[in-house]
Amino acid sequence: MPENSKNQNKENIYILGIESSCDDTAAAVLKDGKIISNKVANQAIHEQYGGVVPELASRAHQQNIVPVVDLALKEAGVKPSELSAIAFTKGPGLLGSLLVGTSFAKSMSLALNIPLIGIHHMKAHVLAHFIKDDRMNLPEFPFLALTISGGHTQIVQVNDYFDFKILGETLDDAVGEAFDKTAKIMGLPYPGGPLIDKYAQKGNPKAFKFPKPKVAGLNFSFSGLKTSILYFLQKKQKEEPDFVSKNLNDLSASIQYTIVQILMDKLQKAVKQTGIRRIAIAGGVSANSGIRQALRIAQQNDAWQVYIPNFEYTTDNAAMVAIVGYLKYQQGLFDDYDLIPKARIPLHD
Ligand code: KG4
Ligand code: ZN
Repeated sequence: MPENSKNQNKENIYILGIESSCDDTAAAVLKDGKIISNKVANQAIHEQYGGVVPELASRAHQQNIVPVVDLALKEAGVKPSELSAIAFTKGPGLLGSLLVGTSFAKSMSLALNIPLIGIHHMKAHVLAHFIKDDRMNLPEFPFLALTISGGHTQIVQVNDYFDFKILGETLDDAVGEAFDKTAKIMGLPYPGGPLIDKYAQKGNPKAFKFPKPKVAGLNFSFSGLKTSILYFLQKKQKEEPDFVSKNLNDLSASIQYTIVQILMDKLQKAVKQTGIRRIAIAGGVSANSGIRQALRIAQQNDAWQVYIPNFEYTTDNAAMVAIVGYLKYQQGLFDDYDLIPKARIPLHD
């Protein structure tokens, strides 16, 4: 643990959060649990390749990290010397990308002689719900978190800030990949998830029926759906070459409907199994209007208490890293400079 001279008062705690696990370089400043700046630099470079290219991502992080951190501090009106600690994403993610954020965080922590706090990316997605904002509707423990992103699909029982238990997860593709890969099959640019959502709003969700996977327990599988959509479209396009463009809204609505049904079926099962009716969604796919609507319906019909984070805290961001940094700071959970980021880390780490 770095020796540091700052006392740990309960007030005026400023945490700088840094996120660089995939293709977004993000920095945020948090004061006593409230976000005072939250900046993200997206990497447009990957669009032309139809997916994230790891080598290009780490290079772009190197270019972006100094300006993004600088902007976050300036917008917050906070000087580096006022910071109490630096929190950064230690994994899971792309190793080359994680290394950029980690090296930067370590250097800044050393230079300022303040604690360094490594953060688990998926825990950050879940604990983003504890960012104090106008909602003031923080989830009570225990709750179930449905973490749905481009890299993960999990149902997690959250008993406390740092007591997480995975109840189920995907055996192959993540739900974000299911959106992005089927979008790619339809010729849409990367990332296709938000586009499917957009077209789905004008389409009929029952226009086409796609099979739902049969997976035991609370685990998920999405690779079969992608393959069945691929074969379905190949067949249809033989008969009618512009089938996709003519049916884009209905196809998007039907794909989204199937994916949302798969998620909701397992969530219903998890509620039944645990008796927990507090549901929080996290990760980039929680921006999806279909899943949000399905959850609102369950809230009304099944007496669920549903927690949906503000949009800016759903996709990859540094505010969620900063809030976990704040929670760890209060407990004195700091890291050593020999911490190595990892592409895969268990959720309890
Ligand atoms: O959490 P996130 O920003 O990055 C990861 O850690 O993966 O999630 C990105 C994923 C992408 O697959 C993207 O297509 C998906 O979230 N996504 C959506 C929507 N917005 C983002 N998928 C469906 N509907 C959306 N509105
Ligand atoms: Zn993420």
